[in-house]
Amino acid sequence: MTHESSLRLRSLPFGARLGMTLLLLVLLGGLAAASAHLVLHHENRDEEPGLSRLDITGAYHGVLVPSPLLGALERGHPEELAPSARDALLAWLRGNRVDRDYDNLDLGDLAPSELLAANCLQCHSPSADAAVASPPMLQNWQEVKRVAFTKEISPTPLPILVNSTHAHALTLGAIGLLLVLLMGLTRWRRWLVGLVAFGLGAGLLCDIGGWWLARPYESAVMLIVAGGAAFSASVVLATLLILGELWLPSFSSENP
Ligand code: HEC
Repeated sequence: MTHESSLRLRSLPFGARLGMTLLLLVLLGGLAAASAHLVLHHENRDEEPGLSRLDITGAYHGVLVPSPLLGALERGHPEELAPSARDALLAWLRGNRVDRDYDNLDLGDLAPSELLAANCLQCHSPSADAAVASPPMLQNWQEVKRVAFTKEISPTPLPILVNSTHAHALTLGAIGLLLVLLMGLTRWRRWLVGLVAFGLGAGLLCDIGGWWLARPYESAVMLIVAGGAAFSASVVLATLLILGELWLPSFSSENP
């Protein structure tokens, strides 16, 4: 059987082609909304704007971002800091009263705000000499608290992941199958249809499979990113191929 003789979407009645076109537009709108939801839902996990690799790793694997302040002091920065001052700062950051003790008057000269002002602001403030000035700014609690805490980003709770998997695997899987079937009823080269179909299937499997693999294996976060991108791109391509089939005039050689 040659594919020229098989059913083609172009030969459907006008109303059917119009209805199918509108449904495809709805599908693309849904995909755009899903991407927007993804960004809004995950972007704030690391408390920095924008969707970063850290946000995604946090959501699917969990991450520990050590306190930059603690890290700098532990590795001996700044070199000229007096040991007593370093010990006082380390004790403060390792304790669980970081916010309350920041400018605790009872601590006198050993209050962290005093120690930071005396030892750090010559370099870590906007008024620092340009030759030595460096982020982070450490002038007040607003600035200090951004680097004082170790952040723990916990992955999405298991029941929510199960719920999300069942919703996405069933609906997106069904949509993918439908697009493959519809592409099969087009005039386009079989290798092109095959390639886009493979992109749909492999993309979705890597994406959703990645959600689960990323829990034990952090590197699987790459699967989520690459799979999601491949699936989305393939949906757009499939839609374009189908729309082209619906509205472009038939090739005369194929339509004797
Ligand atoms: C003589 C200037 C100078 C002084 C004083 C100084 N710093 Fe720094 N600091 C720097 C420079 C330059 C960098 C960037 C390069 C680096 O990381 O060493 C930096 C980096 C940092 C970082 C970022 C490191 C990271 O891993 O992100 C922190 C946190 C920090 N300093 C804390 C402090 C604290 C706390 C003090 C006071 C106890 C202090 N610094 C005193 C110059 C200084």
